[in-house]
Amino acid sequence: MTALLPSRHGTPTAWHRAMAASDLAGVLALERAAYPFPWSQGNFIDSLAAGYLAWVRHDSQLQLVAYCVAQPGYQETHLLNLTVAPPQQRRGHGRALLLALAGWARARGDAALWLEVRQSNAGGRALYAGAGFAEVGLRRGYYPDAQQQREDAVVMRLALRDAAPGAGDALD
Ligand SMILES: CC(C)(COP(=O)(O)OP(=O)(O)OC[C@H]1O[C@@H](n2cnc3c(N)ncnc32)[C@H](O)[C@@H]1OP(=O)(O)O)[C@@H](O)C(=O)NCCC(=O)NCCS
Repeated sequence: MTALLPSRHGTPTAWHRAMAASDLAGVLALERAAYPFPWSQGNFIDSLAAGYLAWVRHDSQLQLVAYCVAQPGYQETHLLNLTVAPPQQRRGHGRALLLALAGWARARGDAALWLEVRQSNAGGRALYAGAGFAEVGLRRGYYPDAQQQREDAVVMRLALRDAAPGAGDALD
């Protein structure tokens, strides 16, 4: 187990550990329940094979409640996927996993944590803004959307060191 994190929201204690190939069936079921355009099984397999950071979070009933995948790079980490099971959303699991990831990235000396989020994803943007991320750019047509349309991605960055006072404090 990597960490034991009590939720601020009063939900049962949950913890995270490294994602394994044996987790993929549950992860895929959750991914398909959470997104209209989910990652494929191959995306997860490739991420594990590449040695990306991948964590699953379980509650005290041993139910999979969330997971994340991130690509460590040179002095920065890129969050590729953060997902909470729909019935478990808004109970602090997403923030707890994000906090753990930011702590991991800070501990390895990263300068920043990066991510993209759909422009229409108000919940995700609120989570990241509340955690200290700044909106620093836009990627036009980054995501697939209904009826062959594309949706823009908002690029967000969390400064992890050499930051102005206040930046990232929400995750300390
Ligand atoms: C976005 C997501 C990861 C958030 O995780 P979560 O566990 O539901 O969020 P948390 O309970 O940790 O929320 C922490 C804070 O983020 C903000 N937030 C989260 N979801 C929100 C929503 N739907 N609307 C508004 N604010 C929201 C709130 O400020 C919240 O604090 P509060 O509940 O005390 O007000 C989760 O809803 C999810 O998996 N959604 C579907 C997949 C997705 O969009 N992933 C992100 C892709 S970049």
